[in-house]
Formats: sequence, structure tokens, C-alpha cells
Amino acid sequence: MTPNRSIQRSLELYERAKQVVPGGTQLLSRRPYIFAAGVAPIFAERGLGSRLWDVDGGEYLDYGMSVSACILGYADRTVNDAVRAQLDRGVAFSLNHPAELELAELLCETIPCAEMVRYAKGGGEACALAVRIARGTTGRDVVLFCGYHGWHDWYLAANLGEPGALDAHLLPAIDPIGVPQALAGTAVPFPYGDLEALEAALAEHRGRVACVIMEPMRSALPPEGYLAGVRELVHEAGALLIFDEVTTGFRHAVGGVQELLGVTPDLAVFAKSLANGFAMGAVVGTRAAMEPAARMFVSSTNWSELVGISAALATLREIRRRQVPRLLREYGEQWIAGFNALAAELGADVRMHGLPVVPQLSFSPTADADTQRKLAALFAQEMCRRGVLIHTHPTPSAAHTADDLAMTLAAAREALAVLRDAQRAGRIDQVLDVTLERPIFQRLVR
Ligand SMILES: Cc1ncc(COP(=O)(O)O)c(C=O)c1O
Repeated sequence: MTPNRSIQRSLELYERAKQVVPGGTQLLSRRPYIFAAGVAPIFAERGLGSRLWDVDGGEYLDYGMSVSACILGYADRTVNDAVRAQLDRGVAFSLNHPAELELAELLCETIPCAEMVRYAKGGGEACALAVRIARGTTGRDVVLFCGYHGWHDWYLAANLGEPGALDAHLLPAIDPIGVPQALAGTAVPFPYGDLEALEAALAEHRGRVACVIMEPMRSALPPEGYLAGVRELVHEAGALLIFDEVTTGFRHAVGGVQELLGVTPDLAVFAKSLANGFAMGAVVGTRAAMEPAARMFVSSTNWSELVGISAALATLREIRRRQVPRLLREYGEQWIAGFNALAAELGADVRMHGLPVVPQLSFSPTADADTQRKLAALFAQEMCRRGVLIHTHPTPSAAHTADDLAMTLAAAREALAVLRDAQRAGRIDQVLDVTLERPIFQRLVR
């Protein structure tokens, strides 16, 4: 058997973290259960390209890439050089800096809906800003949403009026603790892919809907004509359409899903991959949707600090120069083909599917949910023991190489054999060393 790598120091640090950090981690997607609790490391020491080194000195090929933010790979030299050059010249002044404009102009050149740009520091914050702008522009309050859009009051308010509103979009049974009751009824969910349901929601709130904010897609293409239909309905209702491209942005096409599918929203939100892991977010949109923001109080000291701006400029230029969406697609295509061939050869009931830039793993689809969950954990455990950090929604970066793919498939060959044997012998529980906590925030496992 492949021996457990030591994660002693990770575990000690996590114990310390629980004393000073409510919940133990700042980001739910860095909780220990995300990879393989009790087996996978919890604290990283450094990263380079597709690899990270944990605090116990172990080297891992990583398929998390900081919740998909590090699209070029860790510590990308071009991005880091750009940031370093800026550091030596100062990162924030009493005055504005031309790089802010350069980035805004580059975003306008790159993203179909972008004619004007405002910045933020993260995805959730940028979503909140986009919703504020939409409410201010339309003079209306109600927001219809589909998907995950961060932690802010406007979004979690959905569960005030209707306790299960976020169940299908974020996670079941979220208690919107701390969100003002007065916001009840202001955020309303609608199901993805169902134009009639959206039409009904718009009709129910006729004249009061400021915007429809949605993830334009996740791991599969939308039904034919769906997004164009959404756009039409939203405009008929006098509302604005916002695409949240925090996760999709720069991955499927350089200009986002709106470029890939040819449907242009009024506003769009980008973060994460925009700056390869540096803190940066942006709200972009048409002049008509964005210009009223000039009269709104939306302002923050750090929105234009130059670490994020210079990182975003370098990242975006590199994404364009290296044609990153094509690299990600090619890697994913080879991975899906190689993995499924391996699973078939070994007789393992596991499948890799979905769009190649955001592939997914499914374990024993006909088994009960508990067995599927245990098999997924067992796979993560066995891959981790072989130096590969992976969960069911891996996100490779442009730094992942053919050698990385070969290493992944070699590790998968052994891991899948363990799964197959354990399942056949009815011994999954006996070989599973992972502590199975209830994943409290499934959506972010990607
Ligand atoms: C679609 C989407 N919107 C918003 C967010 C929140 O972004 P952040 O974690 O940078 O606040 C995420 C993060 O996973 C996301 O996937």
C-alpha cells in the first residue's frame, strides 16, 4: 500500500487556526474536507506552476489551483514580474494611476459587453457592486438570481422570505444569520434552463425587477437558445441582465461565456482568474447600464491599488497571448479520453465527463448517494497518497503539462484499481481513511 504522507504540521496548524479563526478557515473551500480530510494537507507553504508544497514538505500536483483562480499556474513568472516592478514604484498614491485605465481599456477590448468598467477586490464584492449599479440604474429593488454569487446581504436575503430559496443555488438549509429581515422578498431564485419559470418570476414581480443575475453556465452548455431567451425576457421586463463570470471567465473563451455563446449581457462580473490569484474583481458593462454609477456612492480605497491592477493586466495579456482557453480545452479533452479509457480497461465504475475546461468525476452513478460520496473520498485519498490533489471538479491550469497528465493517469490507474477492488469486495469503509464530514458548501468544490 502507498504510505500516508505526513500531514502532521498541517493538522497542528489547523488546531491552532480553530482557536483564532471562526470556522477554522477564511474560505469555505479551504476546509479540510475539500480534498480528503485526515489524509490531504490543509496548509500550503509555496506553489509553482501546477505544483504546491505543503507545510510538511510534501509536493503535490494540484487540480484545485486556489479555487480555480490561478489559471496560469502558481507564481507565474510574467505576472509576478509585473507585480514586482509595480511594487518598487509604489502601489497606491494620492492620485489615480494610468494602469487603471490600461486595464479598463483592455477589458473593454476583450469582453463583448464591456464599454465601461469599475473595480472590486473579489467576486462576491463585484457581484454586490453589479447589483447595486443595476438597482441604481433601474430604480428598482428586486433581484432575480440563478447560481452562486458570494456572501453578501443582497444574495443571502433570498432565504429570509423563503427558507429553501438558496438550496439549489448554494447549499441546503442556509440560515441567513445576520442578514437584515427588512431585505426579505428582495432576492428571488429561478431555476437554470427553464425560460417559463423565469417568465413567471418576472411576471410575479412585474415593474419591480432591477436585474437578473446568473452564472451563464456551469459544467455543461445551456439548452439551445436559452441565454438569448433569458436576455429577451429580461429586457422585455425593463430589467438588466448580469452574467456572473467569476468562475467561467477567461476559461471557456478569452471574452467569457458571452463570447463563447454570443449572448451579450448588460453587465458582467469577473474576478478569480482575472489576476491569477491576486485580489482583483471587475464589473464591466454597457455604457447605458454603467454610466449611472457615476452618480452612485460606490467607492473604496483599495479598488484601484496597483498590485491587483498590474497582476490583472499581466494575466489578461498572458491569457490572450498563450490562448489559455485552447490550452485548457486540449488538456481536458486528453484527460477525459485517457481517464475513461483507463476506467473501462480496469472495470472501475467511474466516469469523467462535462466540458473539457471544467471536467467532472462521477463515481458509480447507479449506487446510492452515500456510496458515491465514499468512492469520491476514496479516490481523493488514493490520488493524494500518490501526490495528486484532486476532488470531483478539477480545474487544471495553463501550467499543467503533458508530464502532469501522464503522472495523473499513472496515479489514477492505481487509485481506480483500489476503488474497484474495494467496491467489489464490499470493503470501501475498511480502506477509507478520510473523515467524512458533511460538505457544508458543495457549490464551491470546483
Ligand atoms: C460564480 C461565482 N460568483 C461569485 C463568487 C464569489 O467570489 P469570491 O470568492 O471571490 O468572493 C464565486 C466563487 O466561487 C463564484 O464561483
